[in-house]
Amino acid sequence: MAENRIFSGVQPTGNLHLGNYLGAVKRFVELQEKKAECIYCLVDLHAITNWQEPKDLTENTLEVTATFLACGLKEKTSIIFNQSQVKAHSELAWIFNCVARLGWMNRMTQFKEKAGKNREAASLGLYCYPALMAADILAYHATHVPVGEDQKQHLELTRDIALKFNNDFQAPDFFPVPEPIIEGTATRVMSLRDGTKKMSKSETSDMSRINLTDEIDLIAKKIQKAKTDAFEIPEKKEDLINRPEAENLLTIYASLANKSLDETLKIFCGSDFKKLKTELTDLLIDELKPLGQEIKKLLEDSAYLRKVLKEGSEKARVIADPILEETFDIIGMVK
Ligand code: TRP
Repeated sequence: MAENRIFSGVQPTGNLHLGNYLGAVKRFVELQEKKAECIYCLVDLHAITNWQEPKDLTENTLEVTATFLACGLKEKTSIIFNQSQVKAHSELAWIFNCVARLGWMNRMTQFKEKAGKNREAASLGLYCYPALMAADILAYHATHVPVGEDQKQHLELTRDIALKFNNDFQAPDFFPVPEPIIEGTATRVMSLRDGTKKMSKSETSDMSRINLTDEIDLIAKKIQKAKTDAFEIPEKKEDLINRPEAENLLTIYASLANKSLDETLKIFCGSDFKKLKTELTDLLIDELKPLGQEIKKLLEDSAYLRKVLKEGSEKARVIADPILEETFDIIGMVK
């Protein structure tokens, strides 16, 4: 078993935004640089738990691949692929559907949120989504999983599934119990229109988020229009309580400038938001302009992007297939 094996997944359901970049992809790159074995998966099977226009699913999968590469993930160093092409994910997910208990699934807050009031109309896939996520991770015997706060509960479920499987089949330590790596400063980027909600691609207003492919004028406009409050920027972190929009802009600045929130407050305390917005816009443009250009350039070569995914899937299968076979043996499936 590998010492440290990192696995994470991103849904190819739209172009990525600043929240995905600072909270996830940038961290994936840092982990890759630490020389850990990294596996990054575009979870297209998760994406279809809500109906997707087939053409959009294809486009989004290629666009997220381009974004990964533009941000610095390397197809030679990390394994980059899409979930549906490695059958072990769905097969192991079925086994985990038989390990996880209804009582566990019924506690998943993300299902409750996503299904909303009309739970009867939600897909069965949305309900067992976390068992597929457990399969993603455990099919590689991954030890560490970089995820956002919102995925912590799913990771706990993964741990429960691993422990119950090992126990039910008396296969001690067969599935490792993976640890979450929860994001650093970068973190929870909130909507530019409502600092209490996460920046999200499902939010109707495009002004609420910065997309990685936004043109610079649009980035400037979005920051200029971002919601703030009527007070000046304080000196201490504690004074940001109940000022979510102020905290959000300062956090984004801190993350882009590689500074702590305290250091950032020192720079801006006592001033209004104009200065912060101007400097934040400059930082964002410096970072995102080349990124957006690179994404667009890569998107012109879809044959290359498809090749990256195909070769990634081949490498992924080399790890996942034997683990699935061993799982079948443990369960007693005749071959
Ligand atoms: N559920 C994750 C999200 O929406 C995506 C995901 C799927 C994932 N499988 C995973 C994340 C495995 C980490 C590990 O963000």
